[in-house]
Amino acid sequence: MPYKKLTTELKNLISQEEDRQNTQLQLIPSENHVSKDVREAVGSVLMNKYSEGAAGKRYYQGNHIIDDIEFLVKKAALDLFDLDPNQWGVIVQAATGSIANLAVTTGLLETGSRVLSMHLYDGGHLSHGWKLPDGKKVTISSKLFESYFYMVDPDTQRFDYGKVQKRAEEVQPKMIISGGTAYPRTIDHERMKQIAQSVGAYYLADVAHEAGLIAGKAYPSPFPFADVVTMTTRKTLRGPVGAIIFARKELIGQIESALFPGIQGGPLNHSIAGIGIALAEAMKPEFKDYAAQVIKNAQAMANKLQELGYHVVSGGTDKHLLLLDLRNKEISGTVAALALEKANLIVNKNTVPNDTGKPWNPSGIRLGTPAITTRGMKEQEAEKIALWIHEALENRDETSVLEKIGKAVTELAKKFPIP
Ligand SMILES: Cc1ncc(COP(=O)(O)O)c(C=O)c1O
Repeated sequence: MPYKKLTTELKNLISQEEDRQNTQLQLIPSENHVSKDVREAVGSVLMNKYSEGAAGKRYYQGNHIIDDIEFLVKKAALDLFDLDPNQWGVIVQAATGSIANLAVTTGLLETGSRVLSMHLYDGGHLSHGWKLPDGKKVTISSKLFESYFYMVDPDTQRFDYGKVQKRAEEVQPKMIISGGTAYPRTIDHERMKQIAQSVGAYYLADVAHEAGLIAGKAYPSPFPFADVVTMTTRKTLRGPVGAIIFARKELIGQIESALFPGIQGGPLNHSIAGIGIALAEAMKPEFKDYAAQVIKNAQAMANKLQELGYHVVSGGTDKHLLLLDLRNKEISGTVAALALEKANLIVNKNTVPNDTGKPWNPSGIRLGTPAITTRGMKEQEAEKIALWIHEALENRDETSVLEKIGKAVTELAKKFPIP
């Protein structure tokens, strides 16, 4: 293909994607819409500069401005989460959350050490050592470390910390990880730290999903308790793709060298500046309103879906996400997600606690409110969306009904444009 045609086509596709985001509703809890300022930073000339090494310790010349940027962003990260720079160190170079977690585990643990983390079906994350139920090691974290999992209580679908304690005593891990992609309830970080301490393990709190809610003081902070905190920046924190690692001062050096030269080369300076802009936005008083509204919207959606007969895992949510177990409706997660897409409602299929489906066709769907709340939607819209979800699932084989809902969704979406 001639390069001009390729460029035109790519530009055209970018504009189509912008239109898709504007006219559909993004209900995937790990997605959000960043501001124009964040987009400008990420698209800036900063991406032209190579800057291997941490700020102030670079291997390339010409980095004094990049150093200033990285120092500023690190300070902003500590400030946003009220951290004392004498006690906490921070790294903003990890390109993604999975890489941040790999830097922490490879920095602090010997290869082959035991790691205890939340089971994937109960909301855990791949980068916490996930291997398949048949033992197949499908992640680098499971290949490098011996992974074990703790699970939610089958009745309450919440953690029973007594059972987590018992599991930790059996396993004797060197690190305990909390956090995940689909656990809708508050995690008791104080209790998790006590459990880790009782078996001599580090406690890593991965708050990728909750970062913005913590910054906006709408969800409990792990910082008083955890040894290390990791977060992605693109979810509730509403920044670009990237991650932040916070660690107690005495641990940060090992993690920093695990990241570079251990895992990564030159950092994504444009993303780091974008993260800084997102941190500045999260310092504004209105970000607190945003974080609180994200949760109110998720709760409104969960309550309405429950009224409509859906099994909302754990009976509701304390945060920005909810998980529907569709087994009582006899709809698979895949069928549901595809039908909803035809109605312009973008969700993802997801495993649920004690899932009997296959990972590529699990029994649930995951819904979240960070993106619709950024657009300015409130409880009234969240309830309306729940009604559309129900109507679309009930009429999943009726193309004309799905198209009708899709039109109504777009009409609403256009009233709440993305930034
Ligand atoms: C809890 C948690 N940790 C880590 C990650 C990984 O982030 P990334 O996709 O940036 O590698 C995610 C992403 O969904 C996550 O939810």
